[in-house]
Amino acid sequence: MSHDQEKWDQRYRDKPMQAPAPSEFIREILPQLKHGTLLDIASGDGSTSLFLAQQGFKVTAADISATALQRQTQFASALGVEIETLCCDLNTAEPLATDTPYDCITLTRYRPSQALITQIISWLKPEATLAISAFTAGINPRFCLRPGELKNTHPKLELVYYRNRKSNGSALDEYLFRRRT
Ligand SMILES: C[S@@+](CC[C@H](N)C(=O)[O-])C[C@H]1O[C@@H](n2cnc3c(N)ncnc32)[C@H](O)[C@@H]1O
Repeated sequence: MSHDQEKWDQRYRDKPMQAPAPSEFIREILPQLKHGTLLDIASGDGSTSLFLAQQGFKVTAADISATALQRQTQFASALGVEIETLCCDLNTAEPLATDTPYDCITLTRYRPSQALITQIISWLKPEATLAISAFTAGINPRFCLRPGELKNTHPKLELVYYRNRKSNGSALDEYLFRRRT
């Protein structure tokens, strides 16, 4: 088991058994998300994926923490929705074997590497939407983006929405992209 997996498993074991709420970002951009199949990367215990499953998306959630995914499966069952889960390490060269691209991908409160963004693009259908949020301040700078850093991240990604949202001493960059055909 990797250090990251142990660290995150412990964090999720320490959390009270309560389903997490979606971020304001995801609530606000919901009408702009392409409906259909959805991959929630670094999903944690489901703040984004549980909400979007309730909105009718067909959700696959991927995370390094098996504990987070077990929690999420329990929350999903209590809410009467289905979520497929995949345990994966995003730091590996090919973290996910996906044959079928998705209509929408979400990645919230996680800083993606450029290599991961390139992979994510290959998992998106043409015209699919990609929502990313990542801290720009308030946590270890190693895990932060520079504000606006991803605005022109790849020619295949058209920027639809951008905001730097500040709250309680931290700040998050929020992006919504559409994959160009
Ligand atoms: C701050 S949490 C965000 C969880 C969720 N997306 C949210 O917004 O509530 C970061 C998540 O990234 C996951 N994570 C960290 N390193 C990872 C890796 N190398 N591969 C896959 N997931 C990872 C953690 O297990 C954790 O669930």
